[in-house]
Amino acid sequence: MIVLGIESSCDETGIALYDTERGLRGHAVHSQVAMHEAYGGVVPELASRDHVRRLIPLLRKVLAEAQARLEDIDAIAYTAGPGLAGALLVGASFAASLALARGIPALPVHHLEGHLLSPLLSADPPDFPFVALLVSGGHTQLMRVTGVGEYALLGESLDDAAGEAFDKTAKLLGLGYPGGPQVARLAARGQPGRCKLPRPMLHSGDFDFSFSGLKTAVLTAVRKQTLDDAGRADLAAEFQEAVTEVLVTKALAAVRAQNMQRLVVAGGVGANLRLRERLNTEAAQQGVRVYYPELELCTDNGAMIAFCGAQRLLAGARAETSGVFSVRPRWPLQELMESPLPPLC
Ligand code: KG4
Ligand code: ZN
Repeated sequence: MIVLGIESSCDETGIALYDTERGLRGHAVHSQVAMHEAYGGVVPELASRDHVRRLIPLLRKVLAEAQARLEDIDAIAYTAGPGLAGALLVGASFAASLALARGIPALPVHHLEGHLLSPLLSADPPDFPFVALLVSGGHTQLMRVTGVGEYALLGESLDDAAGEAFDKTAKLLGLGYPGGPQVARLAARGQPGRCKLPRPMLHSGDFDFSFSGLKTAVLTAVRKQTLDDAGRADLAAEFQEAVTEVLVTKALAAVRAQNMQRLVVAGGVGANLRLRERLNTEAAQQGVRVYYPELELCTDNGAMIAFCGAQRLLAGARAETSGVFSVRPRWPLQELMESPLPPLC
């Protein structure tokens, strides 16, 4: 079965073809970073319009790369949420119309489930069960995963997501959007510990997180004194270390509490090299193996949506062939357990 995956939940247009027999046949992502940069963040209306422009050229590119034709596609999986309503609607309506025209099913996919399963696309995928640390721009969650569609929430951020904290800290340090990679780049020139930032909820005894206080602490440090370039680099390094320490400590505690040996890290912040370095070291000391998606599949992409859709279809998921589609901008991952699909609108 060949599944076309369509991702358009935020500022990346992603298209991919996943073949259940041959694996990932092709994928392409168009990032809107350059377009939103001037505004310091994502402008939803511009995002939607750009998805409209990119979908067909990207689809042509991926079909050519995979040496496949439109007629070879057996099903279409699209991101139905969570995300920006307008951006989601572009991908969903494109998927549903193409599916209707071709007489094939269109399946709505949860964006975070896509991230969660993305390490299974790597050359050395994890077996179930595992604990997953989902760290994206909008979510920071620890989940117990026992199979496709079997997720239990262990803990989550009570306020800002880790990626959001990176993005806000980048702004405070005078860096551009998206903030995560820029803070990481600046941090590489700095030294953690020279200025001290808190490690929020490190000893809270549960698996929840809080990152908004950390951002306020960065704001206070920036206001207290005029920082030179080296001072800003030290602050970025300390911020990165604080986030890393909390994520690593809590994720490994969750693995221990669940009596598991595997940790999967997914979502944009999972691309952070310091986080990977510290996780790998501390996990190895505890006999835990950490799995990541391929670096290019850490941030938003169509491959994870195609793969997730394929897994769902193989498990017998219901999919629409009538051209009806639905999106759900707010869609907690735990609700997937109750109903695998968003209600149709
Ligand atoms: O998963 P993702 O691409 O989109 C969402 O679903 O949110 O994650 C984007 C987030 C942004 O907040 C971005 O700043 C962060 O991931 N990010 C990073 C790095 N690369 C992306 N954060 C820290 N270090 C990075 N290298
Ligand atoms: Zn994402």
